[in-house]
Amino acid sequence: MSPGSDRGEPARARGRRESLRVAVMAATEQLAAVGVPSPKVDAEELAAHMLGIPRTRLGLHPLLDEAQMDVYRDLIAQRARRVPLQHLTGSVVIGGVTIQVGAGVFIPRPETDVVVEAALAQIVDVEAPVVVDLCTGSGAIALAIAAARPDATVHAVERAPGALAWARRNADLQAAAGHTPIRLRGGDFTDERLLADLDGTADLVTANPPYVPAGTAVEPEVSGYDPAEAVFAGADGLDVIRPLISVAAGLLRPGGALVIEHDESQGESVPALLAARRVLADVRDHADLAGRPRFVTARRVRLATAADRT
Ligand SMILES: C[S@@+](CC[C@H](N)C(=O)[O-])C[C@H]1O[C@@H](n2cnc3c(N)ncnc32)[C@H](O)[C@@H]1O
Repeated sequence: MSPGSDRGEPARARGRRESLRVAVMAATEQLAAVGVPSPKVDAEELAAHMLGIPRTRLGLHPLLDEAQMDVYRDLIAQRARRVPLQHLTGSVVIGGVTIQVGAGVFIPRPETDVVVEAALAQIVDVEAPVVVDLCTGSGAIALAIAAARPDATVHAVERAPGALAWARRNADLQAAAGHTPIRLRGGDFTDERLLADLDGTADLVTANPPYVPAGTAVEPEVSGYDPAEAVFAGADGLDVIRPLISVAAGLLRPGGALVIEHDESQGESVPALLAARRVLADVRDHADLAGRPRFVTARRVRLATAADRT
């Protein structure tokens, strides 16, 4: 073996460092070439994840050593095979709360941030509100509301055992960090026994249910990694929302609010389903940050009883 080397490798090559900026540029090109929708952001996010720093601090790390380059190349290769960015980083931030995600659970989308904001606005004047999040998946909406409103009692419902396990993990992490724990229920929200004790008690019901019409073309990250039952809901995408409206109306107390996320193609059909219910009023549809119809809000009214009319 020659002096200054082990395994026959020259010392100069062993300690080689590469420019992070150049590595990110090459990764961006690699991701763009296979059609990844936001290649630069993803290349930067994966570099930040590999270094264990926020993306905004990448400028402080001009050079990568060989071990770091190996890890980075591997992450980029996986992303180029359309493994979702969030499966590689292991988490996503919704409503300021970090949610762990991976195989078997729907990855919360940035659009859901506006739903959380709107939901919180509905209970701004309610002390110690009771909240029910139907179709909770990873627990994203429920946990974001619980973090913002420690005085709230937040119930969350999920049917799929795989997703429920992620919700449990996230709920435990959030409780361990000192937040008010959420109350998880495993089961189908259409099961009358599951939520019977909450009938007429909720100040707010939230839901980001499956709503994509069956047969809609989706990105490889969705078809390959989001559970199909978390995404698709029948020919018009309304198979879950229809029964959900009845269940939500039953859970709400008079004056309580309902917030449901929907597909951008459902900006008229979902509000129409709500408006058809005598017990719901103030039905309004709302757009996301890109201006697309994204979620609907409504309020439970108190129906006049015979006693009120006398
Ligand atoms: C689009 S994902 C949303 C997850 C989460 N709310 C979010 O925003 O990331 C919909 C979730 O609803 C669940 N789900 C669908 N139908 C359900 C039902 N009838 N009862 C309970 N959960 C249901 C699915 O298993 C899936 O986890």
